[in-house]
Amino acid sequence: MKRHPSLHPLSQHHHFALIQALGMRRAAEAPEGKRAAAAQRQAEKFVKFWHKTGHVHFREEEEVLLPEYARHTRLDQDAGVVRLLADHAEIRAAVRDFERRLAEKSPIEPEEVARVGKLLHDHVRLEENEVFPRIEKIMGEKNLNAMGRGLTRLHSKHDVCEV
Ligand SMILES: [Fe+2]
Ligand SMILES: [Fe+2]
Repeated sequence: MKRHPSLHPLSQHHHFALIQALGMRRAAEAPEGKRAAAAQRQAEKFVKFWHKTGHVHFREEEEVLLPEYARHTRLDQDAGVVRLLADHAEIRAAVRDFERRLAEKSPIEPEEVARVGKLLHDHVRLEENEVFPRIEKIMGEKNLNAMGRGLTRLHSKHDVCEV
């Protein structure tokens, strides 16, 4: 599916989120002797990614994209949006857990890292395959273009998503 240009910045961030998700899955699948350290390292990477770009991306969706969509649809009538917001809350909680454990220097279970990786992966797929196509269809060209101009105001111009 071809993405409307106004949503390209968000889709670019999604690409980097999927790399994080893959890293989390791979860490949890590492050979047993290396698994715990790999999971810990990947959790650390994800926390960095979150502070660099992830939290801004969530705000762009919550503070720009969804309010514009809300002009056209009651958001609680869109089950995809309800799930999107539930995912956001769960991902924020996971980041906090990772941060707390890292600060306490207590271990982060590889299973937990795998769970968060899958959550992130499925979240991106939900947005790309279900929610964004619906928003594109309902909002229409003119509204999408107007929204696109406001969508990247929170991200700095030179922002890169790699950590
Ligand atoms: Fe999202
Ligand atoms: Fe997203």
